Amino acid sequence: MPDIHPGPQPGFAEAHGGPVQVFYRKAGAPRLPTVARAEGIYMWDTEGRRYIDASSGPVVSNIGHGNARVIEAMVAQARKVAFASRAVFENEPNTQLADLLTGLAGPGLEQAFFVSGGSEATEAAIKLARQYAVSIGESGRWKVIGRDPGYHGSSLGALSVTGDPVAQRAFGAMMQTMPKAPAPFTYRLPANHDADSYARHCAAALDAIIRSEGPETVLAFIMEPVGGLATGALVAPDHYYAAVREVCDRHGVLLIYDEVMSGAGRTGTFLAADHWPGARPDLVTLAKGIAAGYTPMGAVLAPNRIVDPVVAAGGFMHGHTYAANPLSCAVGYAVVSEMLDRSLMANAESMGALLRSRLLELQAGSAILGDVRGKGLLMAVEIVGDRETKAILPAQRQAVYRIMDLGIERGLLLYSRRTANGQYGEWLMISPPLIVTPAEIEEIVGRLGDTLAAYEKELRADGVIGKR
Ligand SMILES: Cc1ncc(COP(=O)(O)O)c(C=O)c1O
Repeated sequence: MPDIHPGPQPGFAEAHGGPVQVFYRKAGAPRLPTVARAEGIYMWDTEGRRYIDASSGPVVSNIGHGNARVIEAMVAQARKVAFASRAVFENEPNTQLADLLTGLAGPGLEQAFFVSGGSEATEAAIKLARQYAVSIGESGRWKVIGRDPGYHGSSLGALSVTGDPVAQRAFGAMMQTMPKAPAPFTYRLPANHDADSYARHCAAALDAIIRSEGPETVLAFIMEPVGGLATGALVAPDHYYAAVREVCDRHGVLLIYDEVMSGAGRTGTFLAADHWPGARPDLVTLAKGIAAGYTPMGAVLAPNRIVDPVVAAGGFMHGHTYAANPLSCAVGYAVVSEMLDRSLMANAESMGALLRSRLLELQAGSAILGDVRGKGLLMAVEIVGDRETKAILPAQRQAVYRIMDLGIERGLLLYSRRTANGQYGEWLMISPPLIVTPAEIEEIVGRLGDTLAAYEKELRADGVIGKR
């Protein structure tokens, strides 16, 4: 056989700063360590260096790494049947996981549909909402309002409801961009507002947008109940959730909670929605934590009252090849069972409280730690140039990325992406696996303190912040 693809030439990888087969890195980005193995909340690279995973990767590894029960379930299911077409077979892991998750989600979310990840969960949720509207004779409803900023995934449908001006500039021409309501930030606020009044303003803005768009054209409002990366673990004042629910009800608009990051126990309850029981959403998306990084997986939870008319009208028109995949569902079942058996939601609550108090102590001695926020183990710290004025650091410093690099040098793994090039501020997620212990919290906070101190030193040396 002729060698039609000889592969990369010797030295090509070195010359291009990394492997040639992947193209997700930026030009000139420093070479990343190569992961060798992981266990609990620690990871090791191929040079033998150890790192503490303070963010669960991109807030995914909820039960930590190398979990034996999950690996055994994965192997056992793979031996039985890894894949079976949904067109031909029902599969037990699919129905078992659906029972487990809808049981945990409680009344009003009785049905589940499993997909391949968070972006696809967004796609599936907004398509289900649309088919529901059509099935009940409201086919004029198609607009899905998102929040600015917000994040619901990177496929084009998910991007259309994502509030991100940078993605909008790049892909806006290719998609049906949806209206956006302001996110109820609590730290950096417009003049003449406190967090409470701004949250009221944001709920009123949603109402105003629905009216100006024409309520009969608005299908749904999608939001992260506890923010992810886009807002840095934003938690709105309680009254915001009730106000949003009331606005949606008044206009016949479905409320979708994107719980891709906040769900599966991360905030101390199975759904973040459980913190506001009087303001339940109509649809919920999940991903990340339900399979905790052991397999690509997402889900939409929906009530009978929405699913039944869609099924009666011919069925849900969605389903990628890997929907309801037996192997993924078996893994998800083992992950969620592990979370329940080890009481990890309660641990998320208590370790979240410890983490918050230790981060607040860190903040007291820091010139650049502007805000500490979040719920349970979905926490973030906001980085500023001046704690008094809340001024943002100069954009060219790319502060959070530099802090991430300094963290890696100190064996600390953090997670961030500068939303909208930092126009709303910049933050780092501090969201360790839910198995974290008090000693590990101390280690995370200790390493974070060293990392922030090193960064402050750089800023002082460059005259960006004043000398002490
Ligand atoms: C809130 C939220 N929604 C959706 C997504 C998209 O999920 P995925 O990356 O699995 O497609 C993410 C990913 O970070 C997220 O945080």
